Amino acid sequence: MSKVNVVEIGPRDGFQNVKEFIPTDVKLKIIDGVIAAGYKKVQITSFVSPKAIPQMKDASQLTEMVLGKYSNIDFFALVPNFYGARSAAAVGLKEITPVISLSETHNKNNVKRTKKESLEELRKIRQEFPDIKITQDIATVFGCPFEGEMKSVDPLLELIGEIHNIGIHAFTLCDTIGVAYPTLIQQVFQAVRKEFQDDEFNVHIHDTRNMGILNSLTAIQNGADSVQAAIGGLGGCPFAPGATGNTSSEDLVYMLNKCGYETGINFDKLLETAKYAKQNIHGNFSGHHINIPENPCVITQE
Ligand code: COA
Ligand code: ZN
Repeated sequence: MSKVNVVEIGPRDGFQNVKEFIPTDVKLKIIDGVIAAGYKKVQITSFVSPKAIPQMKDASQLTEMVLGKYSNIDFFALVPNFYGARSAAAVGLKEITPVISLSETHNKNNVKRTKKESLEELRKIRQEFPDIKITQDIATVFGCPFEGEMKSVDPLLELIGEIHNIGIHAFTLCDTIGVAYPTLIQQVFQAVRKEFQDDEFNVHIHDTRNMGILNSLTAIQNGADSVQAAIGGLGGCPFAPGATGNTSSEDLVYMLNKCGYETGINFDKLLETAKYAKQNIHGNFSGHHINIPENPCVITQE
């Protein structure tokens, strides 16, 4: 069966939605735990204004700690603007994820910029930091809390085209509020793959409508280069009303391992880390495995 790249994004998308500050050493233990389970790529934080998201105020400190500890793992972080990109570069991060929404209204709510302003800033980031890999997050691809459902794939292709022309060739298509469904995922992945054959396309799904696993699998089957998920099913955008948790990492890994995909991730170790997270963080853990009572229906897996 084929190999699937599963990427952990809980320390960013998961933690950004938790009000109470999570001590840096707890964040580190969770990052250590997912790496011990076999993850090779982790989104560790976001370099955002601490006024907008106080949870991320330790971004630089945390990044320095993980970069000092691991040399064989790909770490990346979200940046909303040039300021964030500069802060990430200053502590030696080699990959950043700027974010722009397909929906103009969500872009303004989220990063207080028009899409045009975000694109201009992106061009500046690309020019200023030529050695950093940029993977562009596109939020609200499949639907927006303010502007409604995706009606056509054309505005997405147009936006990707503009970003591609800036010199960025890796994208993560985000279902920010969890409104996608398998046939839409298929349509979108087929369209972007056809138009931008050599670019990288990853997927980021929220499980608002219980479609997370199915949508993730559909994206994999339609050529997604990697699939993101958050430990325990934490997650949500504070600037998108109705956004609930991401697809839970352990639920996704369980399904993929059972189906014979090669994830390289040990489910039991991952579940153990998810349980540690639940015990130490006051957040909305919406995953399924994490909420199964200890007995009688715990199933262990090699
Ligand atoms: N990191 C740290 N501080 C930052 C920053 C960054 N990336 N960007 C701006 N700031 C600081 C500025 O220094 C300034 O500080 P001051 O008030 O002490 O002078 C303050 O934030 C305001 O700066 P400004 O450029 O006017 O930004 P803004 O108020 O328009 O905020 C964002 C825009 C995007 C930076 C801010 O809203 C943000 O970080 N949002 C988070 C978005 C997010 O993470 N969404 C969820 C993920 S999709
Ligand atoms: Zn998200």
